[in-house]
Amino acid sequence: MCGIVGYLGKGNAQESLVDGLRRLEYRGYDSAGVAFHEGGEFSLSRETGRVENLANALRGSGSSSSLGIAHTRWATHGSVTVSNTHPHQSHDGKFVLVHNGVIENYGTLKRFLEGKGMSFASETDSEVLCNLIAYHYSELPEDEDRFIDAVRLALPKCRGAYGIAVLCLDYPDVMIGARRGSPLVVGLGEDANFIASDASAFVGRAKEAVFLNDGELAILDKGGFRITTLEGQDAQAVTHPLDQILEEVELGDFDSYMEKEIYEQPAALENTLRGRFGDDGTTAKLGGLEGHEDVLRDLDRIIFVACGTARHACMVGEYMIERLARVPVEVEHASEFRYRNSPKAGKSLVIAVSQSGETLDTLEAVREAKTKGLLTLGMTNVVGSSLARETDGGVYQRVGPEIGVASTKAFSSQVCLSAMLGLALGRMRDLSPMDGQAIVEALNGLPDLVSKVLQQGEQIRELAVKYSKAEHLLFLGRQSLYPVALEGALKLKEISYAHAEGYPAAELKHGPIALISPECPSVFVVEGNDLSSKTIANMQEVKARKGPVLAIAPENIEIPDQAADDVFRLPEAHEVIRPILANLPLQLFAYHFARLRGLDVDKPRNLAKSVTVE
Ligand code: G6P
Repeated sequence: MCGIVGYLGKGNAQESLVDGLRRLEYRGYDSAGVAFHEGGEFSLSRETGRVENLANALRGSGSSSSLGIAHTRWATHGSVTVSNTHPHQSHDGKFVLVHNGVIENYGTLKRFLEGKGMSFASETDSEVLCNLIAYHYSELPEDEDRFIDAVRLALPKCRGAYGIAVLCLDYPDVMIGARRGSPLVVGLGEDANFIASDASAFVGRAKEAVFLNDGELAILDKGGFRITTLEGQDAQAVTHPLDQILEEVELGDFDSYMEKEIYEQPAALENTLRGRFGDDGTTAKLGGLEGHEDVLRDLDRIIFVACGTARHACMVGEYMIERLARVPVEVEHASEFRYRNSPKAGKSLVIAVSQSGETLDTLEAVREAKTKGLLTLGMTNVVGSSLARETDGGVYQRVGPEIGVASTKAFSSQVCLSAMLGLALGRMRDLSPMDGQAIVEALNGLPDLVSKVLQQGEQIRELAVKYSKAEHLLFLGRQSLYPVALEGALKLKEISYAHAEGYPAAELKHGPIALISPECPSVFVVEGNDLSSKTIANMQEVKARKGPVLAIAPENIEIPDQAADDVFRLPEAHEVIRPILANLPLQLFAYHFARLRGLDVDKPRNLAKSVTVE
């Protein structure tokens, strides 16, 4: 989704801003632009397409400005054109602004400003906000706080979400940022300070970060920075060190972040697991749940809310938690939950799962749950994210930054944490110490088994070569492997643009079987238990109709020759970790499938890493 980076310092803004935009590319975007405060005016450069186009346009421009703002836009209001690209400049040329989010009442505000004689150069809601600030500025008397006051007067008039960075021509040493609903973070370096939508924009250049809360303003000037509320009261600025992040966001020897993130899963999962088991080795100990034990022991229902891949992880969690803790679990699309009249049945816990912790629909679902007085827990990868701050408690995934748009290591850690949650809740209820111990041992063995599967990556590449001509594929599995089938299909369509559908294997006969043909392969993820015979029967139904079958199956399950064209073998494992292992070949399959088509797996068309609009 859109990305913001702003620079105020002693050096040259251009290099830091273009580098910052490159680091934000992973969020997904369709145009990019930059504005510098230079020689008593603003100079703007904006291009559709890649940040590289902007970098080429800037090459040789010789800007020496030390104050600028930049943006990658993911179109919401108006098509992908240069005039809709940020930064936007106010009608009088006094302000430039970059904006993430959506101003819902921009139509009303635009009509108001048009009534004041202003004209607009773009179709965007963001230009309206820029002009609204300019309007208030023109109404204020000259004094040293005029810029800040104009921003403070304009923002409360906006309905919706924003993260902004704004500059004013009359203040060559000041940059203002503000947030409501869209993340914004201040970066503090030795020679420069930054404002960005995401700390990765300035890692390596800033040493510390301050995450803004909703309703806060960051005012950066040559003397430093301060955080205030919209009303003007000083707000607390908590700084977070940024040292280790640089290494984690470097690509190293890998061709893409997606590949890197797939292969770093053994280490990532070790981090997810580290120090999270009780001393007696029979349960999980999740610090973020402490203080809520009474509610957790006595729950009637858990509702998971999430979007995309995170929702698939929740669906695996549903099977696990119901089995281990025997608590009824529902999984809702966050976007549906937030508008539903969901009955308040007994003591319910809402668990929101989001890698980024910034997905708007998931955050709104949490806010809705809180309005209804429900306890909310978050599961997120991003420390200090909105989700982490807005929930009553929760757990961090600890897998390091996930840059590839297609989520991989985050899914594995979410499933791992769901199993740990099931274990912890189970041990508060019926689960025996022996069963608990077996699960702890299985989870501790997970990183090694993940390594073992990933070592067979070449075999998956060969399978992807064999099947890569297919334009339609089905993914099928049962029970906790059904969401794995959904995730396998999602991964493939996200990055290869082939059409893929996931179904419970038994649903095949209720419609999808009509699609079976020699041109439509089916990928079956086979269970490691008695249910496997039923899935093998489904595979035979496909083969009988001349559909190619690729099976992903544990070593202990015999697959008859006539049931599958190809079989990829997984190590035998405890049921709580089988979904994670079974998903690994599907991640690699999608990765190779897309690469064989010559596609950029890290920047799939139309997608955004973190969707911060509705
Ligand atoms: C977007 C991404 C998906 C991701 C989903 C939820 O749609 O493209 O890969 O699964 O958002 O993201 P979250 O950060 O909430 O897990």
